[in-house]
Amino acid sequence: MSPSDVEAVAALCRQLASEARNWDGFEKRVALAFSDPRHALIVAVDETGKIVAWMHLHETFLVAAEPCLQVLALVVDQECRGRGVGKEMMAFAEKEASARGLPRVYLHSQIKRTDAHKFYEDLGYSQLKTQVVFEKRL
Ligand SMILES: CC(C)(COP(=O)(O)OP(=O)(O)OC[C@H]1O[C@@H](n2cnc3c(N)ncnc32)[C@H](O)[C@@H]1OP(=O)(O)O)[C@@H](O)C(=O)NCCC(=O)NCCS
Repeated sequence: MSPSDVEAVAALCRQLASEARNWDGFEKRVALAFSDPRHALIVAVDETGKIVAWMHLHETFLVAAEPCLQVLALVVDQECRGRGVGKEMMAFAEKEASARGLPRVYLHSQIKRTDAHKFYEDLGYSQLKTQVVFEKRL
């Protein structure tokens, strides 16, 4: 991904519109991710150069668990799903994890995204647990 891709990537993210997300600061956070080698922002383009998928990877760890490459976001354009793009993006994530010496790829997926769960299971991912997510606005 390059800085000029920000608008196209934001549009892809907005396709998951059921979440009323606040997009203020999106561009700033993209710039922050570019400046931090633990983050990787990846896009896939079609033959015409149009961005058809976006993925955000983060090298991280918990003191109490093995380090991992976490997939923080993965979106394939709704017009391009079911054509192997998502599978290629995840293959990239796995290669990137190996290149960084990380023993696993880890991700969260909302309970309602049953299509995505099937996608990950087909790629060999196992469900570890379900969680409740808390937030306090400050
Ligand atoms: C989930 C998502 C990333 C999958 O990407 P995709 O490009 O559509 O998936 P692919 O075409 O690469 O599919 C790879 C495999 O996953 C499985 N799969 C993909 N979508 C599936 C679906 N809706 N139902 C069942 N299986 C599915 C298929 O077995 C497929 O195997 P095949 O190549 O043998 O057909 C994409 O549909 C998407 O962006 N969804 C909305 C956003 C989202 O849910 N992101 C994940 C958040 S955790």
